Amino acid sequence: MNTQKSLKFPRVSAPLTLAFAATVLGLLAAGAWRSSTAAESASADTAAAAPTDAALIQRGEYLARAGDCIACHSAPGKPAFAGGLPIDSGHGLIYSTNITPDPAHGIGRYTEAQFADALRHGKRADGQHLYPAMPYPSYAKVSDEDVHALYVFFMKGVKPAAVTPPATDLGFPFSQRWAMGLWNWFFTSDQPFRAQAGWNQQVTRGAYLVEGLGHCGSCHTPRGFAMNEKADRSDQARFLSGGELGGWEVPSLRGLPHWTDKDIVDYLQTGRNRSAAVAGEMAQVVEHSTAHLNEDDLRAMAAYLKTLSPVAERSAAVKPQGATETQRKLTAAVDLTLGERLYLDNCAACHFVTGQGAPRVFPRLDGATVVNADSPSGLLHVILAGASTPSTDKAPSVLVMPGFAQRLDDREVAALASFVRQGWSNQAASVSERQVSRLREHLEAQPAH
Ligand code: HEC
Ligand code: HEC
Ligand code: HEC
Repeated sequence: MNTQKSLKFPRVSAPLTLAFAATVLGLLAAGAWRSSTAAESASADTAAAAPTDAALIQRGEYLARAGDCIACHSAPGKPAFAGGLPIDSGHGLIYSTNITPDPAHGIGRYTEAQFADALRHGKRADGQHLYPAMPYPSYAKVSDEDVHALYVFFMKGVKPAAVTPPATDLGFPFSQRWAMGLWNWFFTSDQPFRAQAGWNQQVTRGAYLVEGLGHCGSCHTPRGFAMNEKADRSDQARFLSGGELGGWEVPSLRGLPHWTDKDIVDYLQTGRNRSAAVAGEMAQVVEHSTAHLNEDDLRAMAAYLKTLSPVAERSAAVKPQGATETQRKLTAAVDLTLGERLYLDNCAACHFVTGQGAPRVFPRLDGATVVNADSPSGLLHVILAGASTPSTDKAPSVLVMPGFAQRLDDREVAALASFVRQGWSNQAASVSERQVSRLREHLEAQPAH
């Protein structure tokens, strides 16, 4: 279960936040107003009348996994789907709601049409707009058939929970839910899924899952000034080209040139593959969502990601000698720099002097995405706080990387991280002591996991 107190929602920088606030205020002053449509009277197909069909419920449950509904709609110690997880919007906390079929506290009174509106268009049964902390811009691509199965699952396959999550109370102007209608109008395409010419059946299935239920773009696509994803379709070059999440650089998924299809499937299914291990927010995605998908769907996602043209590489492989050079220096162990010495003392036991680690046990540091990211935050986060892979059906053992926050000071972590980012064939920028101390403060301010 998710033991983290809150999921991070990508933040926007202060001046841009103000720009958004000014837009909203301007619209308020201009008297722009959208009357919310009155709640449709919940009649025929409410909880009581939904069809029971074991196969349909099972399909709906699978789709709820693909959509990772549980990641946001469950809070530690609370029943599944009863809501209450705080999501940091950058302007205050947005609480996920109770989506169990309880008629008073959950969505038991939602008709299928109202459920579809919430899921695909961010509209509540009472006509109010949802905040896009709920990934409805992606779910807009979910087919009618899948919405139906999800509806049946939530009405018949989920236990009602009489729990009221804390109310979302954002400050003005973000408290103005109607403004999200304008936001939707400006920033979301609200289009159903469309296959592109040249896609075979497998790629089409993968694209449908990644663009839609998987809402992979909510983290892997860069965000604009109003938290909007800058692209939501496969034919847009910025789609899945990499984002940022609480200072952690989220890698591009376009083409994944360093991985085979099997590497991608292994990673999504087990949180590890022959060269990497999952860390950060992606660990939760694997644990609650992708590890539960069947092999065909994971292969389809991999095949689809492989069709996307990669983001232009920063001059890769201009350091062919690097790997042997670093290995030789660490093996000889004379005239070591501070970073090299710290690596030998603290890291080499698991990641080895080759920086290659061991397949499916210790991830490779030579060429690793997190090591070579423009921002060193992910790497520093792992060094200071450690990381562990989720336990999945196919790979139940948990791989643990210890944290070094207690053992190494800021100067040492900076020297070590700089060495790792420039050792072997890596060639990312050095890390400063200041960057380490900032991240350390950030981690200390976070609630304990
Ligand atoms: C990334 C987080 C996230 C994920 C994933 C997510 N939701 Fe939500 N959802 C939210 C939040 C937050 C709200 C409340 C937003 C608000 O109050 O404006 C919400 C609201 C809703 C509502 C409106 C309920 C109401 O009356 O308030 C429904 C229905 C819903 N979600 C269904 C789903 C389903 C089904 C899935 C999976 C397919 C899902 N959500 C996945 C965050 C999420
Ligand atoms: C909640 C945010 C979030 C969502 C949603 C998300 N990811 Fe990720 N993903 C991340 C982060 C953060 C990383 C970096 C992990 C690391 O550094 O170990 C990552 C890493 C990855 C990687 C490894 C890439 C590499 O080069 O190392 C793959 C593959 C991936 N994600 C696929 C997906 C797919 C497919 C989906 C949708 C089903 C998805 N992700 C949804 C946050 C997310
Ligand atoms: C006891 C063995 C062990 C030691 C010692 C160790 N690590 Fe790790 N490391 C791991 C394991 C296991 C993982 C995979 C955990 C995960 O990603 O969830 C990992 C993950 C990582 C990652 C993330 C890789 C990726 O692809 O996401 C980095 C970076 C890393 N270690 C660097 C270091 C550095 C630098 C040191 C020395 C300060 C170090 N490790 C010491 C075992 C170890």
